[in-house]
Amino acid sequence: MTPAIESAVQQLSASALAAPQITVLDTGGQYTHLIARRVRELGVYANVQASDTPAAELKNRLGIIISGGPASVLEAGCPDIDPAILALGVPVLGICYGHQLLARHLGGKVEKGERGEYGVAQLTVTASDPLLNGIERSRIWMSHFDTVSKAPAGFNVIGSSEVSGIAAMSDPKRRLFGIQFHPEVVHTQVGRQILENFVFGICAAQKDWNVSQRVPLVEDQIRATVRDRNVFFFVSGGVDSTVAYTLCLRALGPERVFGIYVDTGLMRQGETELVRSIFNELGAKHFIVDSAESEFLTALQGLHEPEAKRRAIGEQFVKVQERVLATEHFLDGHWILGQGTIYPDTIESGGTAKADLIKTHHNRVAGIQSLINAGRIIEPLTSFYKDEVREIGRELGVPAKFLARHPFPGPGLAIRCLCADEPAQAEINSDGIILPVRSVGVQGDARSYRKVLALKETPSREAIEITAPALTNRRADINRVVAQCGAKAPLESLQAFPATITKQRLDTLRKADAIVRDFCLTTKFEDQVWQFPVVLIPVGTSTAPESVILRPINSVDGMTADVVLMNAPDLTRLTQKLLAIPEVAAVFYDLTHKPPGTIEWE
Ligand code: XMP
Repeated sequence: MTPAIESAVQQLSASALAAPQITVLDTGGQYTHLIARRVRELGVYANVQASDTPAAELKNRLGIIISGGPASVLEAGCPDIDPAILALGVPVLGICYGHQLLARHLGGKVEKGERGEYGVAQLTVTASDPLLNGIERSRIWMSHFDTVSKAPAGFNVIGSSEVSGIAAMSDPKRRLFGIQFHPEVVHTQVGRQILENFVFGICAAQKDWNVSQRVPLVEDQIRATVRDRNVFFFVSGGVDSTVAYTLCLRALGPERVFGIYVDTGLMRQGETELVRSIFNELGAKHFIVDSAESEFLTALQGLHEPEAKRRAIGEQFVKVQERVLATEHFLDGHWILGQGTIYPDTIESGGTAKADLIKTHHNRVAGIQSLINAGRIIEPLTSFYKDEVREIGRELGVPAKFLARHPFPGPGLAIRCLCADEPAQAEINSDGIILPVRSVGVQGDARSYRKVLALKETPSREAIEITAPALTNRRADINRVVAQCGAKAPLESLQAFPATITKQRLDTLRKADAIVRDFCLTTKFEDQVWQFPVVLIPVGTSTAPESVILRPINSVDGMTADVVLMNAPDLTRLTQKLLAIPEVAAVFYDLTHKPPGTIEWE
C-alpha cells in the first residue's frame, strides 16, 4: 500500500470505530464476539453492546444483530432487548436466543422443545427471501432446547430443519429476521453468505474496516488507556503475553514498558535464553529475568504427590510476584499492569481447566488484585481469539517459530518429572508388566491416580486403538498403558527408587526433552502433533534409575486428545539416542488417549 492509501484506510477504520454500522447485542452467548468478528471479516466494523442498550443509542446503526445466549426466554428475568429497537426501521437479525426473543416480543410463540437440537442439522429453504438469497439446502449448526413454534404475524417461515419447523423466519417489510442456527460458527456452511446477505443486501452497509488496520487501532487504544503512566508485564514466554507486551512496546516505546520473566528452574532446556533473545529482538529495553530456581526447588523439596507439587508451585509464584511488585515499586501510581488475557479467557468457562487454575494464581496475587480493583490494568488482546493473536504477532514481527510453539503447562517440568516415596518392584501379570508408579487420568469425568501397565510389544496402531482401550476398560488398577520402545534391562527387573524433584533429575529430563524436540524438528514430526510431553519416571535399575515416556498427542483444545504414532524406523533411532543418556534404563511410548489418560502425567 502506498502511504496515502494506507492513511486513507486507517482513517476509514478509525471512523468505523467511532460510529459502527452494525451492533451485536450480547445476550450472554459463547459466540457473541464471534458474530462481530465475522462481520468485521466482511470488511464492516461491528461492535458488541449490552443486550438492553436503549433504542435511542442504536437509531443510527444500519443493522442490529441479537446474539444467542444460554438463558430461556420463557424464564422471568432473562436477558432482554429494548423492544423499541424493533420499531426503529433498522434491520434486525435475531440468532438462536435472539430469534426466540424476536418471536416473543412480536406475538409469536416459543415453547420448550421436546428434545434439544445440538450440532449439525440440515437447513431446508422453504421460501425465497433476501436473507437466504442464493442458498438452497445446506448444513447448519444448532444448539438450542427452546424452539419457536409460531412465527409472529407478518413473518414468513423461510427455512426449517428436521427438529425446528421454524429454523428461519422473516418479515421483509419491517426488515426483521430470525434464525435458530448459528451463522457465525464454521460448521454452518452458508454462515458467511447469510451474514453477507444481511450486512450488504439488507442493511446496505459500506465496507469501512480493514483487518490489517487493527494493530494501529489497538495501539491507539493502549495510548488512550495508559495515558502518561508506564506498563509492566509478568511474561511467561507464551504467545499471548508476548504479543500483548509487543503491542504495548510499539504503542508506548521501549522506555515505558517493563517485562519480567520468572525463571522457575522448571523450564525446558534453553527456554530462558530463548525468551531473553526474543524480547531483545522485539526491541525490549527493560526486560529482566528473575532467577527463582532455588526458591522453587526448595518449595518442592520432599514432595511426591502431584497436587502437592502443583500447590507448592502456585504458592511460590505468588510469593515471587509479591516480591517483584514490592522491590520494583510497581505498586505506585506511575505504573499499570499489562496482561495477555485473550477473549476465550474472559468467557466464564465453568470448567476446571488447570490452565485456569494457574492463571488464577497469577491474577490473584494481592498486589495485582488491588491494581485490578483500581482499574490499573491494560489487556490489549481481550477482543481477540488465539488465531487472531497469532496473526497480530506475525504482523508485529514476532518470530514465527515462537508463535507456533506447543502449549506448555504453567508448573513446567515439575509435573513431567514423577516422584516416588518408597522403593517398589515392577509386577508381572498376564497382560504385561505393572510399573510401580502412578499417573493422573480422567475417567467418568473424575480424576484418577493409578498405576501404569507396560506392554512388552512395540507401539502399533492396533495397540493404541484396541489393546490399550480394552485394558484400561477392564482393569481397575490402571489408567494408562505404555509400550516399550527399548530398554537396557528386562522390564520385569525394573524397580522404582524413592525420588523427589532435584536439579539433577530436572537436568536429565531437560536432556531427554531436548533430544526429542531436536529430533522432531528435523523429522518434521513436530508438525503432526499438538503437543509432545516427555516424562521422566523414577523407574529403572541401580545404575540407570530413570525411564523416559514419550507422549505425542493431537488435540484441538486440550480437553480430549489422541495418541499420534511415530513411524517405526524414526522411533528406533530416537530410542537409541535416549538410551545413550546414562541415567535412562528404558524408553516407553504412551498408548493412552485422553480420556482415560490426561495429556500430562500429573
Ligand atoms: P491435561 O494434562 O489436563 O492437560 O490433559 C490439558 C492441557 O493443559 C495443559 N496443562 C496446563 N497448562 N497450567 C497450564 O497453563 C497447568 O497447570 C496445566 N496443566 C496442564 C497441558 O499441557 C495440556 O496442554
